[in-house]
Amino acid sequence: MQQPVPVVDPSLDLEAEIVRLKRERNAIILAHYYQESEIQDVADVIGDSLQLAQAARKTNADVIAFCGVHFMAETAKILNPTKVVVLPDMDAGCSLADSAPIDRFRAWQARHPGSVTISYINCSAEVKAASDLICTSSNAEKIVRSVPADKKILFAPDRNLGRYLVQKTGRDMVLWQGVCIVHETFSEKKLIALRERHPDAALIAHPECEPGLLEMAEFIGSTSALLNYAVDSPKQTFIVATEAGILHQMQKRAPHKSFIAAPPESSCACNECPYMRLNTMEKLYLALRDLTPRLEMPEALRAAAELPITRMLELSV
Ligand code: 13P
Ligand code: SF4
Repeated sequence: MQQPVPVVDPSLDLEAEIVRLKRERNAIILAHYYQESEIQDVADVIGDSLQLAQAARKTNADVIAFCGVHFMAETAKILNPTKVVVLPDMDAGCSLADSAPIDRFRAWQARHPGSVTISYINCSAEVKAASDLICTSSNAEKIVRSVPADKKILFAPDRNLGRYLVQKTGRDMVLWQGVCIVHETFSEKKLIALRERHPDAALIAHPECEPGLLEMAEFIGSTSALLNYAVDSPKQTFIVATEAGILHQMQKRAPHKSFIAAPPESSCACNECPYMRLNTMEKLYLALRDLTPRLEMPEALRAAAELPITRMLELSV
């Protein structure tokens, strides 16, 4: 159920109010590339899942306003038990995290005794606490390669990222069958037609995409890797197969280049993450004003979830 949103005075200059409240609260605003452009423009740090976790770990702010989805804000809280962490909309979930309820996850692990479990950061604190290692899309290969060759690996919850890693590393992993509802939506048929109209365009894709699309891509990487590739490449036109919010930073960093969002199957806006887009400037303003909704969790769970995240951060420097 969605939260009722208190009415915000429409005459307020939200950007100015957010900046004022940020100063008053000694707050930092962390925003994922999939947030709406206004939120990205008011953020102190914009990044991918790993960069935002790293920023959360090193901040001296008293309050973290996390503009992303629940598992990201939860990670920030796990790393900062004494700080206030707010998420503008507590219903900002993730289909990958939802695909792995803790009971089924534990039963799956029990069927593979002696294995090492690597969980993509897109999962709940409970799943993190039950995992040996966490990874994000930007360090996943390194994390998989860090596991001794004689160990069996369980990888959850994204089967597409998992399959991509099996191909990349040659490690035979047991995969949880979760998918991202945004990245599974791209139409290969429409992409082929689009490439015919833009023969010089580079197709770049996030590893959460379906295998058929990844095979067509010139470059595969996390959101920050896609951004850097697009900025540094000599090519002028890019078809971008990930959540459309990233196009804002691409256009800002390379204003003379053209970026085309990869087309979804139907004529919906399915290349926008419905969870990410629950956060709005109004809700961010209210979160900073009222310091709610807050991330809270039992200390035992937090401490257990922190271990595999810390291992990941240590392997990512
Ligand atoms: P990255 O931030 O690691 O690129 O992952 C994208 C994503 O889907 C986050 O939910
Ligand atoms: Fe989850 Fe996909 Fe949205 Fe990322 S884009 S938060 S993986 S549903």
